[in-house]
Amino acid sequence: GRKNGLIVAIDGPSGAGKSTITKLLAERLGYIHIDTGAMFRAIALSVRRAGVAVDDDVSLAALCRRTDIVFVRDNGCCRVMLNGEDVSDAIRTPEISALTSRISARKPVRDSLLELQRRMGEDGGVILEGRDIGTVVFPDAEVKFFLSASAEERGRRRYLELTAKGEAVTLEQTIAAVVKRDEQDESREHAPLRCADDAVEIDSTGLSIDEVLALMEGKVRERQKYC
Ligand code: DC
Repeated sequence: GRKNGLIVAIDGPSGAGKSTITKLLAERLGYIHIDTGAMFRAIALSVRRAGVAVDDDVSLAALCRRTDIVFVRDNGCCRVMLNGEDVSDAIRTPEISALTSRISARKPVRDSLLELQRRMGEDGGVILEGRDIGTVVFPDAEVKFFLSASAEERGRRRYLELTAKGEAVTLEQTIAAVVKRDEQDESREHAPLRCADDAVEIDSTGLSIDEVLALMEGKVRERQKYC
């Protein structure tokens, strides 16, 4: 067994409710929550600020080496620190979302974050959310979920989030951006978005957060009995 508990992997496309669900499930289980998308977003922000080209793998590798990403937790709320600066809000713009999808396809970026994610999770007692946790980062995770929902539903959720923050976007644009990101994430060469063979698939279209949570908590508790 692992020192602090199980490793729970939650993968799936953007807007399926992974972040919300992962935070709540982690609270219920007393586990740590690791948002790997935030790590890719922080790298993307760093890339943009440095003016590095998306396909310049040599510069990307160098940039990753000098990029320090840590999560700071203060009562349930998790801030993302990039070289000591709180970038939690700066990484959530539509522009950084689009850039992150392209940056996360690059091998040096994936390699560098793979190592960091494994170090963060190896002792267990963690839930990692992302795209390739159950397939690549922790293929031996004790519990794996693949959380999806229809593109319309995911676009609608993202639209509500963005407009609540005052972003000037339309529903149509947001759905189109979600579909485009799915295509990029699924078709890339390195660690594409894919449901692991042994993952529990959950389609959250039409399900409430509580219903999804109950399903997942049940699966994890069941597994905890045997570990
Ligand atoms: O989950 P998110 O929307 O914050 O993820 C942002 C981007 O990062 C998404 O387009 C895909 C990429 N990503 C990835 O490639 N691998 C992960 N484990 C997590 C995110």
